[in-house]
Amino acid sequence: MSHNQCIGVLTSGGDCPGLNAVIRGVVTSAEQLGYDCVGFLRGYEGLVDPVCYIPLNKKNTSGILNQGGTILGSTNKGRFAATVGVQDRVNIKPELLEGVATTMRQLNIAGLICIGGDGSLAVAQQFHEFGIPVIGVPKTIDNDLSATAFTFGFDSAVACATDALDRLRTTAESHQRVMVLEVMGRHAGWIALYSGIAGGADVILIPEIPWTFDHVCDTILDRDQEGKRFTLIVVAEGAELPDGDIVVQEGAKEGCGQVRLGGISALVAREIERRLRRDTRTAVLGHLQRGGPPTTFDRVLATQFGAHAVRMVCEGRFGEMVCYDPPDINCVPIMQAVNRLSQVERDSSAVQAARALGISFGDCPTQNSPFRRTVFVGAARFEEALAEEASQDATAAESFAQCETLVDEALAT
Ligand code: F6P
Repeated sequence: MSHNQCIGVLTSGGDCPGLNAVIRGVVTSAEQLGYDCVGFLRGYEGLVDPVCYIPLNKKNTSGILNQGGTILGSTNKGRFAATVGVQDRVNIKPELLEGVATTMRQLNIAGLICIGGDGSLAVAQQFHEFGIPVIGVPKTIDNDLSATAFTFGFDSAVACATDALDRLRTTAESHQRVMVLEVMGRHAGWIALYSGIAGGADVILIPEIPWTFDHVCDTILDRDQEGKRFTLIVVAEGAELPDGDIVVQEGAKEGCGQVRLGGISALVAREIERRLRRDTRTAVLGHLQRGGPPTTFDRVLATQFGAHAVRMVCEGRFGEMVCYDPPDINCVPIMQAVNRLSQVERDSSAVQAARALGISFGDCPTQNSPFRRTVFVGAARFEEALAEEASQDATAAESFAQCETLVDEALAT
């Protein structure tokens, strides 16, 4: 059965593992329902002036399930860059929107499936408001989109960062060094948190939890005392320094006008070396986190997203986005996803589990913990908690002093 209607698909913004799996999911399920498919090239750019697309079918999307990147190309720059900063939108020019609507009519496109992160979905939202039939599919390694439990690409990035930690552990241990691994994630600490837990990090520094060098150094010294003379630190690129600064790559702007984050690991390492005179090294994972084959989880999630997006076209659910609502795949208005960044909750179970394992977030150990929250329930408990905290501080100061002596002695020999 063919009703000659077509489904359009495009990948926009930074790439991530699983994009091709979505494309394959879209094309295969669309063909089964009798739709033709076209893929627009280089994100939204391919939609207009000049219109650039390729027909997609089961044959030319076969074998791409496990391929990283995107066969359609992508960009986070250009005429359709809709985000300047968090919740700071730029309006797409009306003549461009008009051009896209014309392309849709000329190619007889029943629905346009836009696979992208928050900036790209903000464009999709503007298309929807202009009357262009769009469906959103959330992708990003950062996992910072609201309204979906996970985005595809995240699990693959975490796997990459976890593998890096496994590797850094052995060399850190051999040389009794502090290792600082810098991971991506923009203003969300998901990659750092999950890889830190999975890779057995000792310290995790994320944008959502304010931290200090004193506490980071205390953790290193505590480990020394335990006889573990190496420390693994994971720092999210968007973590704020204790003075509130965010570290950006000098002179660099992201394509859509956002600053390009990066470089915090070097500052963290330098300060640790200055304070403790400990051999400290850094590793910046960068775009390794975005490349390579998707993990099993991402392949399954991406495939389900693709198939569900086609179903949504059939049902006319335009202006909505596929989402993962475990264990189901569902849909929500795109607006819900782009309204607010999804960040790590300070008292989430993942953070609590990490703390329970002794992982430091570079903050006061009792701050943000469940114990801290009970502090305010009653005055008696409050006093008790303060006393507990003071005694912990005294022990920390004592162990710090002992360790300093040990370090000095070791350096002198
Ligand atoms: O949003 C995905 C992401 O990889 C961020 O984690 C990172 O800050 C940014 O994109 C890097 O962008 P670019 O590929 O433009 O360097």
